Amino acid sequence: MGGIIPISLHSLTTLLSFFFLFLTSFPAKSSSADTINSSESLTTGQTLVSSNDVFQLGFFTLDNSNWFLGIWYKNIPDKTYVWVANRERPLKNSSSGVLRIGVGGNLVIQEDGEGSTSAGSLLWSTNRTAAANPINPVAKLLNSGNLVVREASDEQNFLWQSFDFPTDTLLPDMKLGWDLNSGLNRYITSWKSKTDPSTGGYSFKLNFHGFPEVFLENGQHMRIYRSGPWNGLRFSGVPEMKSTADMNFTFIFDQNEVYYSYHVSDSSLISRLTVNSTGSLQRMTWIEDSKSWSLFWYAPKDQCDDYRECGPYGICDTNASPVCNCTWGFKPKNQQAWNLRDGSDGCVRQTSLDCSTDGFLPLKGMKLPDSTNAYVDKTMNLKECQQACAKNCSCTAFSSANISDRGTGCVMWTDELLDMRHYVEGGQDMYVRLAASDIAAYGGIASLNDSKKSPAPALVAGVSVASGVLLLGLTACLIWKRKRLQSMLGGKTQQRGIQERSQDLLMNEAVIT
Ligand SMILES: *[C@@H]1O[C@H](CO)[C@@H](O)[C@H](O)[C@H]1NC(C)=O
Ligand SMILES: *[C@@H]1O[C@H](CO)[C@@H](O)[C@H](O)[C@H]1NC(C)=O
Ligand SMILES: *[C@@H]1O[C@H](CO)[C@@H](O)[C@H](O)[C@H]1NC(C)=O
Ligand SMILES: *[C@@H]1O[C@H](CO)[C@@H](O)[C@H](O)[C@H]1NC(C)=O
Ligand SMILES: *[C@@H]1O[C@H](CO)[C@@H](O)[C@H](O)[C@H]1NC(C)=O
Ligand SMILES: *[C@@H]1O[C@H](CO)[C@@H](O)[C@H](O)[C@H]1NC(C)=O
Ligand SMILES: *[C@@H]1O[C@H](CO)[C@@H](O)[C@H](O)[C@H]1NC(C)=O
Ligand SMILES: *[C@@H]1O[C@H](CO)[C@@H](O)[C@H](O)[C@H]1NC(C)=O
Ligand SMILES: *[C@@H]1O[C@H](CO)[C@@H](O)[C@H](O)[C@H]1NC(C)=O
Repeated sequence: MGGIIPISLHSLTTLLSFFFLFLTSFPAKSSSADTINSSESLTTGQTLVSSNDVFQLGFFTLDNSNWFLGIWYKNIPDKTYVWVANRERPLKNSSSGVLRIGVGGNLVIQEDGEGSTSAGSLLWSTNRTAAANPINPVAKLLNSGNLVVREASDEQNFLWQSFDFPTDTLLPDMKLGWDLNSGLNRYITSWKSKTDPSTGGYSFKLNFHGFPEVFLENGQHMRIYRSGPWNGLRFSGVPEMKSTADMNFTFIFDQNEVYYSYHVSDSSLISRLTVNSTGSLQRMTWIEDSKSWSLFWYAPKDQCDDYRECGPYGICDTNASPVCNCTWGFKPKNQQAWNLRDGSDGCVRQTSLDCSTDGFLPLKGMKLPDSTNAYVDKTMNLKECQQACAKNCSCTAFSSANISDRGTGCVMWTDELLDMRHYVEGGQDMYVRLAASDIAAYGGIASLNDSKKSPAPALVAGVSVASGVLLLGLTACLIWKRKRLQSMLGGKTQQRGIQERSQDLLMNEAVIT
C-alpha cells in the first residue's frame, strides 16, 4: 500500500499539471474579463462580460454561416442581441475571426487567412480619424452595455463608444439624437429579418428642425409614424408615456445636442426600445418570473398612428367612425375619396381668412401637428403666442411649447396642419386659425350638448393689439432666433401631475383681457 500511494500521487500531479497547461494554453481571455488591450484579441468562442455580469460580447451566428460580433444579455436564455458591429460584413468562417485593437486605437474585426496572424482581411473598423495615436488603448464592455475604447489610464473620456453607433436597440442612458457640434446623428435601424442582423428598412430618427420630434421611417425618407414633439412631459403623440419611479425620460435640446433618452433606476429592471424588422417600435421588459420578454409599449398602434392618415387639416380619432374628420371650418378636399374612407387628401378651408378678423378655435386633447416647420419661442406665454400668431397672417395655429407647468413657451405653425389626432386622454390643447364667420358658427355649435367640445370660447384674433410692448414681443417672435429655440428646449422631464387644464385658464385670461 505504502508504495502505491506515491505512484498515484505522482500520476495525479502529472495529470493536474497537464490539465493546468491545457487550461493556460487557451488564448488570453477568461470568460470574466471585461477588457482587452492592444496586445490581446478576442476570437470566436471567447467573450467579454461586463463587470456587473449583465452584458456579454462575442461572436455569434444565427444561421451557422454568418458570424457577427455582438453584445447580448448574459443571463437571458432567449438570446437577445442589443448591438451588432459588422452588420454588413459577417464573418464566413467562424474559426478565423478576431477582434483586436488596431492602428490608431481602432477596434477592428479581421478575418485572418490560414496561418497568418495579422494580415487578414478587414471586415469592420471603428474608423476613428484622430490625429494622435493613443498610448495604451483598451476596449472595455461597460455595465451599461456600452463598448468603449479609451486610454487605459483615462476612465472618463472615450475615443469611441458603441452607444454612438446603435444597431436596432436603444438601451437605458443611450442617446437617440444629435450631437450638433460634430453632426453625429444616433438613431436605431431595424434588422433585415428576425434572423438577419444586417441593416433593414426601418429606422427611428430624431429630426431637430422646428419643434424636434422623432420619425419612424421606411427607407431613407418615407415617414410612417412620428412621436410628436416633446411637450415638456412626454412626446405629444405618446399620451401613455409617463415617468415612473423605475423609469424616467429625458429630452435635451441645447446648443450642443438634441436627444431623447431614458433612465432605469432599478438595475434589476431590464428594458429596451427597439425598431423591429417589420417596422414597429417596441419597448420590451424582461420578466424574470416567467423568463420572457413582455411588450410594454409599441407603435404604430392604430390607424391614426399612420403618418398623414387624414391629410392636411384632418383629425384622426380612433373612437370615431370613420376615423377621419375635418377640423371645424374645413371640408374634405376630395369628397368622393372621403366618402370611400380615404382621408389622405385631407381638408380645405370653407371660408378663406382675411387675417385681421380671424379667430382661433380651441382643439382639445390633440397630438400636435407635424412640427418640422414650426416656430418655437420659449419666452412667450400663451396669450403672447396668440397675439403673435394673430399678427402674422401665415400663422395657422399655435399652442404652448411646454405643458409641464402652467403652460409656457409658444409654438406656431405657418403651413398646413398635418397628422393631427385626437386623444380621449393625454392629448393637449392647440388653437387653429379660422375665419371670423366660422368661429361664430362654432360658438353656436359649442353651446350644444357636445361634451367633447367643451365650451371654451373661441378667440378673436384681431383683439386690442398694437401696443408698443406687444410689437416688441412680436418682433421677438417673428425673428427666428435659433439660440432662443435651443435654450428653450434644454429642459428635462418633469413629473407629471399638473394638468393641461391650466392652459384653459390662461386662454380665458387671454379672452378677458
Ligand atoms: C495586456 O494585458 C496582458 C494581460 O493582462 C498583459 O500581459 C499585457 O502586458 C498587456 N499589454 C499591454 C500592451 O498593456
Ligand atoms: C476556416 O479558418 C480556419 C483557420 O484559419 C482554416 O483552417 C479553415 O480551413 C477555414 N475553413 C474554411 C471553410 O475556409
Ligand atoms: C470604415 O471605413 C470603410 C472604408 O471607408 C468603410 O467601408 C466601412 O463601412 C467603415 N466602417 C464603419 C464601421 O463605419
Ligand atoms: C414587431 O412588433 C410588432 C408590434 O409589437 C409585432 O406585431 C410584430 O410581430 C413584430 N415583428 C417581429 C418580426 O417581431
Ligand atoms: C366631425 O367634426 C364636426 C365638427 O368639426 C362634428 O360636428 C361632427 O360630428 C364630426 N363627425 C364625426 C363623424 O365625428
Ligand atoms: C342640452 O341638454 C339638456 C339636458 O340634458 C337639455 O335640457 C337641453 O335642451 C339640451 N340643449 C340642447 C341645445 O340640445
Ligand atoms: C410670419 O412668420 C413666419 C415665421 O416666423 C415668417 O417667416 C414670416 O415672414 C412672417 N410673416 C409676416 C408677414 O410677418
Ligand atoms: C418645461 O417647463 C418646466 C416648468 O417651467 C421646466 O422646468 C422645464 O425645464 C421645461 N421643459 C422644457 C423642455 O423646456
Ligand atoms: C431619473 O431618475 C434618476 C435616478 O432616479 C435621477 O437621477 C434623474 O435626475 C431622473 N431624471 C429625470 C429627467 O427626472
